[in-house]
Amino acid sequence: MKKALITGVTGQDGSYLTEILLQKGYEVHGIIRRSSSFNTGRLDHLYSDKEILNKKMFLHYGDLVDTSNLNRLLEKIEPDEIYNLAAQSHVKVSFELPDYTAQVDGLGTLRFLDAIREVGLKKVKFYQASTSELFGKVQEIPQSETTPFYPRSPYGVAKLYGYWIIVNYREAYGIFASNGILFNHESPRRGETFVTKKITRAAASIAVGKQKTVSLGNLDAKRDWGYAPEYCEGMWRILNYEKAEDFVLATGKTHTVREFTELTFRELGIEIDWKGSKENEKGHIKSVDWDIAKTLIDFDKKSASYKFNFINLKPGTVIVEIDPNYYRLTEVDLLIGNPAKAEKLLKWKTKTDFPELVKLMIRSDLDKVLTRGY
Ligand code: NAP
Ligand code: GDD
Repeated sequence: MKKALITGVTGQDGSYLTEILLQKGYEVHGIIRRSSSFNTGRLDHLYSDKEILNKKMFLHYGDLVDTSNLNRLLEKIEPDEIYNLAAQSHVKVSFELPDYTAQVDGLGTLRFLDAIREVGLKKVKFYQASTSELFGKVQEIPQSETTPFYPRSPYGVAKLYGYWIIVNYREAYGIFASNGILFNHESPRRGETFVTKKITRAAASIAVGKQKTVSLGNLDAKRDWGYAPEYCEGMWRILNYEKAEDFVLATGKTHTVREFTELTFRELGIEIDWKGSKENEKGHIKSVDWDIAKTLIDFDKKSASYKFNFINLKPGTVIVEIDPNYYRLTEVDLLIGNPAKAEKLLKWKTKTDFPELVKLMIRSDLDKVLTRGY
């Protein structure tokens, strides 16, 4: 039985990767941070399974800023594969926490690689969660493994260090270490302050009358959005490729935040009309398609009491506002990846397209708001 060690196991990707590796027959070890409240929500379904917890899945306290802890864990676990997913992963927050972000996202990677040398794990394979944020102010469209980097945030710069230290330790010490340069990937488990989840959660709450508006920043930024579980399968393929190499994982298509917002509300039967410009721009209800709204109400019988809130959504009502606090000091305007290398060498390809992604996220949030009140 192969052993995998996952940092960031409590995050969106960590939770999907755990499921994938368990299914493939791995023994999975995850590093969790001490927190004042529970941070294992995304793993609860595995955590509560007596056949899995402490039989096939083991959780250990740790932190990427604690070198001695990483050494001890590697000595104890002796993993075959390490997936380094832990990060301060929020781009906007990295402007507020630049030093911490560098410590975790940049030096954290170095600490791990050095711990591998220190402990003498000769055969271990190491996956680094690199990012399309490395391309930042893009130097080429679409972006591939050979596109020059130009990061635009402390997060992007910290991840750039992580990227190059992987390449350097691979070349200098022969460690099997690979970068997955992943473009944005989303899911119902996405953190709630990332724009996709923020929009789908708010739209569901607005539809049932629990929230009036959603405040967003730059509506015109373009992202290459895919479905997270497919990208986690790609991580495994990267580490199980015949040699350590770097790969872009992306859909090859790009959409604006505005399009994501429009499509989310359209899934609920609500068409948006945009009026005004810059920070004065607002999204109004243009029309409500009652047939769609009714289907959604039937989607869960418990939701009947929310019917009237749908009916109260009147054309002209403002549902989207702009809050400049969400603007980035330096924005990444356009990301669109070229996944040709991964498609050819790893036989990896995205299956879930943009409309399907929006649909599965809004359906999940509507279900949550209707059944649990969120
Ligand atoms: P996420 O949901 O924000 O999860 C981040 C994980 O890192 C959480 O488990 C978090 O623990 C943990 N963590 C944060 N600081 C830590 C520290 N100092 N020590 C140990 N663990 C720490 O992120 P994600 O979306 O799953 O992304 C996974 C990785 O891929 C990240 O490195 C991210 O930068 C990178 N990435 C993501 C995307 C994307 O679109 N999702 C694209 C490219 C690259 P808590 O639960 O305790 O906070
Ligand atoms: N978060 C957020 N909140 N972003 C907003 C908002 C808002 O209210 N309004 C507009 N945006 C815009 C941002 O300015 C950005 O251009 C875009 O939406 C996407 O923002 P996020 O969802 O926060 O993701 P990100 O692209 O900055 O970073 C994510 O993807 C990277 C890969 O490209 C994160 O998952 C990173 O960890 C990851 O590396």
